[in-house]
Amino acid sequence: MPKSILILKGSPREKGNSSALADRLAEGARAAGAAVESVNLQDLNIAPCNACDLCGEQGQGCVIDDDMQDLYPKIAAAEALVLASPIYWFTYSAQLKLCIDRWYGYQGNRWGELRGKPFAILLTYGDTDLYTSGGINAIHTFETMCRFLKSEIVGIVHGTAMGIGDIEKQPDLLDQAYRLGQKLASV
Ligand SMILES: Cc1cc2nc3c(=O)[nH]c(=O)nc-3n(C[C@H](O)[C@H](O)[C@H](O)COP(=O)(O)O)c2cc1C
Repeated sequence: MPKSILILKGSPREKGNSSALADRLAEGARAAGAAVESVNLQDLNIAPCNACDLCGEQGQGCVIDDDMQDLYPKIAAAEALVLASPIYWFTYSAQLKLCIDRWYGYQGNRWGELRGKPFAILLTYGDTDLYTSGGINAIHTFETMCRFLKSEIVGIVHGTAMGIGDIEKQPDLLDQAYRLGQKLASV
């Protein structure tokens, strides 16, 4: 069975910079024999976690009836997960954050569906560096999350790209994403 990798794309721009990095990662992973699925979170109807806590009380998972119900089994089936996001207001996009907040629904007896999976993250921002852009905040959140989930961080690719297509001027970043895909396929 090929290794299965799920990419969660957090940009509303289907052909944007973080999406281009994600597609290059997918190419690298497929070339190394993995099966890759990408999901555009923008296309899904995902409500914010409402802290009802029924997931924890009843151990049945999240009870909110929206598109997360199709995504939970995909996440459970994936052997590695990739987050791809633009930096919005100095951290992840809201599209990605909404999805991650709903992972609260694993509490109770379902952490095994998420915990321990290898993770990677791809981030693009308009500002000139990791600090002024706020990319550092997203990376700090990501590292803290992976520590909590007991998940290995396989790689982090980040860089500056503002307009759609700007990422194409950064072949090194695209190469990094490709190589990260190859690495993910082998961990
Ligand atoms: C609502 C919004 C907020 C943004 N906030 C930031 C920011 O805080 N820091 C930054 O460096 N760039 C910021 N940007 C620029 C994007 O991060 C940048 O254009 C990125 O490459 C977009 O990725 P995408 O093409 O995958 O959507 C923002 C853009 C938008 C639309």
